[in-house]
Amino acid sequence: MKIKSDFLVIGSGIAGLSFALKAANKFPDKKIHIITKGTPEESNTKYAQGGIATVYDLATDSYDEHIKDTMIAGDFLNDPEVVEMVIKQAKERLDELLNWGVDFDKDENGNFDLGKEGGHSKNRIFHHKDITGYEIERSLLKKVKEHPNIRFYDFHYAIDLITEHQVYGEMTSLESEKTIFGAYVLNEKSKEIHTFIAPYVLLATGGSGQVYKTTTNPFIATGDGIGMAYRAKAKIADMEFIQFHPTALYNPGESPAFLISEAVRGFGGHLYNLAGERFMKKYDERMELAPRDVVAKAIDSEMKLWGDDYVLLDVTHLDYNDFIKHFPNITKKCASLGIDIRKDRIPVVPAAHYMMGGVIIDKDGRTSIKNLYASGEVTRSGLHGANRLASNSLLEALVFSHNAVEHISKVFDSPYILPSIPEWIDTSTHRNMEKILIKHDLNEVKTIMTNYVGIVRSNERLLRALRRLYVLYQDNKRLYDHSEITTDLLELRNLITTAYLIVEFSRKRKENKGGFYNIDLDKQQK
Ligand code: FAD
Ligand code: SIN
Repeated sequence: MKIKSDFLVIGSGIAGLSFALKAANKFPDKKIHIITKGTPEESNTKYAQGGIATVYDLATDSYDEHIKDTMIAGDFLNDPEVVEMVIKQAKERLDELLNWGVDFDKDENGNFDLGKEGGHSKNRIFHHKDITGYEIERSLLKKVKEHPNIRFYDFHYAIDLITEHQVYGEMTSLESEKTIFGAYVLNEKSKEIHTFIAPYVLLATGGSGQVYKTTTNPFIATGDGIGMAYRAKAKIADMEFIQFHPTALYNPGESPAFLISEAVRGFGGHLYNLAGERFMKKYDERMELAPRDVVAKAIDSEMKLWGDDYVLLDVTHLDYNDFIKHFPNITKKCASLGIDIRKDRIPVVPAAHYMMGGVIIDKDGRTSIKNLYASGEVTRSGLHGANRLASNSLLEALVFSHNAVEHISKVFDSPYILPSIPEWIDTSTHRNMEKILIKHDLNEVKTIMTNYVGIVRSNERLLRALRRLYVLYQDNKRLYDHSEITTDLLELRNLITTAYLIVEFSRKRKENKGGFYNIDLDKQQK
């Protein structure tokens, strides 16, 4: 079946939903389709805790300071023009969220209660208790569903982007000629594959934390956008830069890992090793509020030094009533595991959290494929450089989704003549393959990435990872060619591609920066 619209949005996190709302308002007579795999709300956005970094009041904060903090966290690999553009736009985007009904916490005087996180020189994080993402996702979904010209397709999985390659075949699909025409999409309930056609497409599929064993990202974060963009030959960069959040709750067997927000350290939480030493003083004068890569590396080093499985986050010295007001969800989670934060320290470990690299976009959210825009965690916009400053990613998604709609409104071509798009051709031979093989391969990808491509990498580890991933790639291809197309098989395909890109980009990088650390380069640098 062919399903046509003017705009196709892939993904229903903050990037996709805010784009859809803006496009629907800007083009009241046009049709906007949102497709998302699984349930509408499941996304990284839903789990965001800390909040959105915004310079709101120039009497107490400044753009320059937020810019400087972002550049320092990014190890100066950020694009300074992009950093400035995003940070100066933040207030406008935040006001829009307020208009869309998002509720940010205020203090007893009615002023916004601004939090602090690692790498920030000022309190500038707008939040809704410790469930900011949940509040944003709730408000945006409500708005989107009320909008008459937005149609929402949940349980719809985008398999591949449609470009000249599918329309005219291999020979004509030169990189410079690529244009987007839509996407092939699996209806996860009926199992049919539909052809979604649109002249403008937004890729907003989020991150890929599921490539690692321990991650704060939910199960949907499988690098699908990276896989699709790579196969469509869109330009991709910076895949070696992975952010490990220093403090996920240590609770073996729980997946995804529950996050203990960095805002807890911003609120005064201290880190100790199991020997009782407040170890951050050995690593960085900013102590627990150094940027994430520094704290995560310090924890990793302490765990290795002492042979421990975790370190401890202490909040026992903080005012309990104040703490519970700011962090009700974290307090509840700890209590459910028998951790009384008034007297017990919280066991924490680093966990894969955010991918700095992705599909290259310009300031207007344009990818290297004509009319394919992208926004949010799937992108590499130039904002984050080698490591993202805390609470800058929700902001990034809002800004680039806004810019993309603004850009489209300048170039919108109507009526837009699309070529005749072929329907999906099922070439698989449907041999009866055991489904358990997918599970085995998934575990293997996660093991390879965790053992060889984690916080500390080496040339030998990266080579091992590459060789093993190649075997998995071949096995996956056989499964793909001979089995029924299912979400888990497609996700595995994208996870293998994403893992491969992380490894390949890591092997090419010759200098340690931000979220990338190769011990062999360290020896050379010394
Ligand atoms: P997502 O919100 O992940 O949305 C992606 C969407 O795409 C989902 O709906 C998904 O189902 C859909 N999708 C994926 N693949 C397909 C496919 N093949 N077909 C169809 N649909 C697909 N950032 C901050 O700035 N502040 C914070 O406080 C903060 N806290 C965080 C806490 C946690 C635990 C986590 C995991 C992240 C946090 N982040 C935070 C990061 C931030 O939440 C994400 O970077 C951001 O929400 C990404 O938004 P997005 O719209 O790009 O992607
Ligand atoms: C957190 O609350 O620690 C997460 C913030 C972020 O990832 O930006």
